[in-house]
Amino acid sequence: MRDRPILMFDSGVGGLTVLREARVLMPDRRFVYVADDAAFPYGRWEEPALRAHVVELFRRLLAEHDPEIAVVACNTASTLALAELREAFPQTPFVGTVPAIKPAAERTRSGLVSVLATPGTVKRQYTRDLIEKWATRCHVRLVGSDRLAALAEVYMRDGFVDEEAVRAEIAPCFVEMDGRRTDIVVLACTHYPFLANRMRKTAPWPVDWIDPAEAIARQALSLLAPCEPAGGGAAEPDIAVFTSGKPDFLARRLMQGFGLATGTR
Ligand code: DGL
Repeated sequence: MRDRPILMFDSGVGGLTVLREARVLMPDRRFVYVADDAAFPYGRWEEPALRAHVVELFRRLLAEHDPEIAVVACNTASTLALAELREAFPQTPFVGTVPAIKPAAERTRSGLVSVLATPGTVKRQYTRDLIEKWATRCHVRLVGSDRLAALAEVYMRDGFVDEEAVRAEIAPCFVEMDGRRTDIVVLACTHYPFLANRMRKTAPWPVDWIDPAEAIARQALSLLAPCEPAGGGAAEPDIAVFTSGKPDFLARRLMQGFGLATGTR
């Protein structure tokens, strides 16, 4: 039964890190992946404008695709607008993506944790509240990166990554204090796991990089009604929607690689 899809949403390619986990857990489900490429990057938007933009966009997306649930696979949007989305569209269950500060605080041995995110997510009261709630015993460094989301976009489309730029962007995450060192970096932007190998390579010392994608996919699974495995008939394909209406060849090829047919709305 693949009739009502799962809507998976991000400003760009980052939500694909969640989609690939979701596909493993929910192989019989149909997915609509939405990249709000017309508005990328979200990290630089002012809060009121981005909040209004995301709510209006969802009004259209929910009407067009009628999903069973919506996954906001974007920290920058979730930390800002999840409450408003739930309020505006109470008939749709939403799964959000927020910085994995609680698991980081539980796992750290040194007590030094860094949260690597967009400048927007770092500024959010939501993020500060998570630290206040779960990590008061830790020293948490918030690192806002201006460039990593765009570097991940380029890497996924062109296969090229500027390693020196990655090194420079992650460098502030590594803190030494009283003989202790950062041992956990939370990847609090869904684009970043695509650069995880480059981050490992350019990190000054090994750390645990927390990618919440699987946990988000599990949360989505827990909200769905049970479904029958797809029968023999031709199922509707999973699709990718670009809000710009004009994905280029590389973007279309990338989506095809993730098993998504490309639409334009
Ligand atoms: N992938 C998004 C996130 O998880 C942000 C990328 C952007 O700046 O648009 O925060």
